[in-house]
Amino acid sequence: MDISSGLEDVYIKHTGLTSIDGEKGILRYRGYNINDLVEHSTFEEVAYLMLYGELPTSEQLRTFKNSVEKGYLLPDYVKQIISSMPREAEALSVYMTAFAAMSASESNFKWSPQTDKAKAAEIIGHAASVVANANRHSMGLQLRDLAPSDSYARSFLEAALDRKAEQGEVRVMDRALILYLDHEVPASTTAALVACSTLSDMYSSIAAAIAALKGPLHGGAAESAYTQFARIGSPEKVDAWFNENIVEKKQKLMGFGHRVYKTYDPRMKIFKKMATDIVKRDEDRNILLTAEKLEERGVEQFGAKHVYPNTDYYSGIAYRAVGFPVNMFTALFALSRTTGWVAHISEYNESEPRIMRPRALYKGPGPRDLAPVSHH
Ligand code: ACO
Repeated sequence: MDISSGLEDVYIKHTGLTSIDGEKGILRYRGYNINDLVEHSTFEEVAYLMLYGELPTSEQLRTFKNSVEKGYLLPDYVKQIISSMPREAEALSVYMTAFAAMSASESNFKWSPQTDKAKAAEIIGHAASVVANANRHSMGLQLRDLAPSDSYARSFLEAALDRKAEQGEVRVMDRALILYLDHEVPASTTAALVACSTLSDMYSSIAAAIAALKGPLHGGAAESAYTQFARIGSPEKVDAWFNENIVEKKQKLMGFGHRVYKTYDPRMKIFKKMATDIVKRDEDRNILLTAEKLEERGVEQFGAKHVYPNTDYYSGIAYRAVGFPVNMFTALFALSRTTGWVAHISEYNESEPRIMRPRALYKGPGPRDLAPVSHH
């Protein structure tokens, strides 16, 4: 009997949320092409689309935004927990801790489509408040709830960065929120579904998803990719670095490769354009030029294996240009993906959910007699 290493090609649910054509590099949310959504929709509209199945009317959008804004207010004990963490703590760990803490008030939570949707909007609001405050805490600022504004992206940015956000920055944040919003069932979403399949609550399921997102093979790749560009230092050093580290030492090129895409990730192309448009400082431009040179070298080396840059390759450069430190990148990814997690959890609970309980094929020792340890 074969096992599926890395759960490759294992289907765990039907979904009406996201479809990926990995050969052609096409991503759709509920049938809409990601390129169209990024061009013509806002994050709030797309979040509604994912949760409810259709784009909202203006009235539905207003009601949804009001529910999200209620979640901007965090319980005091959550703010205290965030404040008590080390200032240098990774923002993603702060996020995971805050959500694990909020699960404490959810032990009697019962699933139903109505409670799911109400909870989902509140959680999307809480997520922005927690991640913004994780950044404020790392800067030594007092924590504060998000203030409602014309957009989720603006409310988040202005609280997180403690300043007015320019329209260009708000647009980059809004598009990044849409691009990372959902991606079918990668490791993090699968972890959320495993947790919710046991009838665990939404906050605990999200904490499980965050834990799975953290690693450099998944959400942590944006940080690793950016650090890799910074370590190389400049475009002229790319060839020598690549030959030594990737060709000779066989290290992985971070921000390259994907389980599903066997060509360019469509999100990467959008992030590349956004990064190119927003980068202003010389230091950021140097990183961008280094990344572009490395992209060329990487595709030349790995294109034949169908390994191409993924969404995390350029996203960090865009986030950095907006003003975020490197250790916020994974938390920013998690903030976007929280909507995808809750949409998948809701969808799973609206089907006929069963507990996820796979098997392991035993290949240890055969039956043997026990000699108690004390007789050795
Ligand atoms: N650098 C160099 N070679 C690579 C890379 C890479 N980044 N990615 C895949 N390959 C090679 C593998 O060595 C393997 O070669 P082989 O067939 O000669 O042994 C082949 O391509 C297939 O790769 P697998 O590791 O089997 O692919 P898998 O689907 O298991 O892993 C993963 C996908 C984890 C994303 C992998 O490509 C990787 O580690 N990439 C770097 C980390 C990264 O950027 N992660 C972000 C993913 S996107 C996201 O989570 C948002």
